Amino acid sequence: MRLLVTGGAGFIGANFVHQTVTDRPDVRVTVLDKLTYAGNRASLAPVADRIEFVHGDVADPDLVNRLVSDADVVVHFAAESHNDNSLAHPMPFVQTNIVGTFTLLEAVRAHDVRYHHISTDEVYGDLEFDEPAFTADTPYNPSSPYSATKASSDLLVRAWVRSFGVRATISNCSNNYGPYQHVEKFIPRQITNLIDGVRPRLYGAGHQIRDWIHVDDHNRAVWAILDRGRIGQTYLIGADGERDNKAVVELLLREFGRAADDFDHVTDRPGHDLRYAIDASLLRDELGWRPHYSDFADGLAATVRWYRDNEQWWRPQKSITEAAYATAGEQVL
Ligand code: NAD
Ligand code: DAU
Repeated sequence: MRLLVTGGAGFIGANFVHQTVTDRPDVRVTVLDKLTYAGNRASLAPVADRIEFVHGDVADPDLVNRLVSDADVVVHFAAESHNDNSLAHPMPFVQTNIVGTFTLLEAVRAHDVRYHHISTDEVYGDLEFDEPAFTADTPYNPSSPYSATKASSDLLVRAWVRSFGVRATISNCSNNYGPYQHVEKFIPRQITNLIDGVRPRLYGAGHQIRDWIHVDDHNRAVWAILDRGRIGQTYLIGADGERDNKAVVELLLREFGRAADDFDHVTDRPGHDLRYAIDASLLRDELGWRPHYSDFADGLAATVRWYRDNEQWWRPQKSITEAAYATAGEQVL
């Protein structure tokens, strides 16, 4: 199989490439990545001699057309992915997430190539504490510029399946954690703060809930969909990992031997979604997928060890990222 992976130098894409090279030596992997601030060639260093890397933009029709014509399957991870950035500068989100997906869809349509679209549970908006979890039938109701552009891209995929017979599947996953995640994101930001002796930073009261899944479990689900998924189907991916943000910070503080209240409350995110939760029963029942990481505290401890052991990977981004949060007006409450 010739596999084109977009966004393979980012967090989830790089872990997907590692998993694929290890588990599926028969797959020939090409990565297409623009290397934005979120992309890092070093994330692919351990597999560099076993893949082809192409530096380019998913919204470049000539390049995309050429690469897709030489592929059997495309898995599309590339995106602008951070909600806080989308509030400050929404334009790159429209360009990459919507125009980039459109460009890929036109190419897979032209060459009749199988396409899998990586998306997020945020397209469904947020839940009250007592509401049932999202399913594939939950109406779309995105809150942020990021989630609105991801919702738009999902709808393009659905239209290309129905109108043009494109052979596509979609997955909407909950919050991932694990190695190679950019230090702008919640868990790596707090881990690297703690390594530096800085207090973790909780937006507002910290009562918001996210449904955490280890990145390797997400990527195993993507392979289950590629292997056995039904064309045109949307699969929700989640591992029953609901935790509120304050509880996550407390777990990390315990991991570092610090007091449970040794953190700062900072300016809340505008429009901050309250809760996400995934009902993954379709994925479990139809495709037989099960998460390998059933204990969040264990997965988190392994992630802490990875950041302790790989300081050279994250250190160059740390001060730039913290300066950007300060410039955006983040303040201790
Ligand atoms: P990330 O920000 O870590 O990585 C994104 C990658 O895409 C980077 O390597 C970047 O260089 C590349 N990229 C950006 N714009 C590009 C363009 N125009 N052309 C080519 N490459 C480009 O993101 P991530 O957290 O790994 O997320 C990957 C995908 O998974 C995204 O589609 C995101 O919406 C989705 N997702 C993420 C999560 C999560 O918790 N992180 C959960 C569910 C779904
Ligand atoms: O649900 C899937 C989504 O999860 C993905 O689609 C996104 O790409 C990914 O970034 C993530 O979105 P979130 O906005 O949930 O993730 P983030 O890591 O930015 O924040 C997680 C929670 O932690 C959220 O409630 C905001 C809060 N937070 C975040 C940061 C960076 C803090 O309390 N403090 C922080 O410093």
